[in-house]
Amino acid sequence: MRVIHSVRNLHSWRRKQELLHGPIGFVPTMGALHDGHLSLIHRARKRCRTVVVSVFVNPLQFGEAEDLGRYPRNFPADRRLCREAGVDLLFAPSLEEFYPSNFQTTVTVNRLTQRWEGESRPTHFQGVTTVVTKLFCLVRPHRAFFGQKDYQQFLVVKQLIHDLNWDLRLIRCPTVREFDGLAVSSRNRYLSADERVRAGLLSKALRQGSDAIRTGVRNVRTVQARMDEILDSDPDVHVEYLAICDSKNLEPLTKVRGTVVILGAVRVGNIRLIDNLLVRCPRSQG
Ligand code: PAF
Repeated sequence: MRVIHSVRNLHSWRRKQELLHGPIGFVPTMGALHDGHLSLIHRARKRCRTVVVSVFVNPLQFGEAEDLGRYPRNFPADRRLCREAGVDLLFAPSLEEFYPSNFQTTVTVNRLTQRWEGESRPTHFQGVTTVVTKLFCLVRPHRAFFGQKDYQQFLVVKQLIHDLNWDLRLIRCPTVREFDGLAVSSRNRYLSADERVRAGLLSKALRQGSDAIRTGVRNVRTVQARMDEILDSDPDVHVEYLAICDSKNLEPLTKVRGTVVILGAVRVGNIRLIDNLLVRCPRSQG
């Protein structure tokens, strides 16, 4: 009999048990699949023998005033896209199946969830970490693929995996963008033609900030001013936050150093858009 005392050894024991079946890659989604999701699925397909996708619109991560009721749903199209992309298993539970009426457990990541999205959407991350925990327990993947577009979500899930000792690699996949840089999102379809043009300003501002940093600007206020100039050019773009932060803990910086993330959230009409760019400061200028 083998006795194991460490979590690490237990994980490696479990991995060996599964060697015959190869790694399971997992892409959790809320459906209405678009090019962003498909790029996650393609990456999972390349790196894992088995690919599992979940489609579940998770009510726990929507606030009361948010758009749960009109969140896009098109299961037949999702099923077709998954089949075409070579997905091995599509998990699409009903609400009752996933959260039975006596469901009473939630999972919370604390510090990382307080700022930015957490400030605007106080119950959002608890909903995300609860659903993701349940999905990870059910699918037991070896690798999970998340988009950089929701950078704070990515960090929160990374913390969750670390804190709960899951033997699971979280893979951050690049944001897929439209022709003008707008990050692909399920909610983009609700933008009117005018709003669609305005929406492009967020990624433009982030690029402006990133260019400033790359060319040596280190004062956050100066970078910020250059980004504000773009977003202030249209009074119908309402900025919720635009911040230059430490890429590991999302604390706002006053001086740019190391790898930073520029995070932004704006409202255009009724649509809330988020985006971010990671920028590494060249050492010689840092
Ligand atoms: O990013 C999303 O689509 C959702 O937050 C996720 C991770 C599928 C959990 O519902």
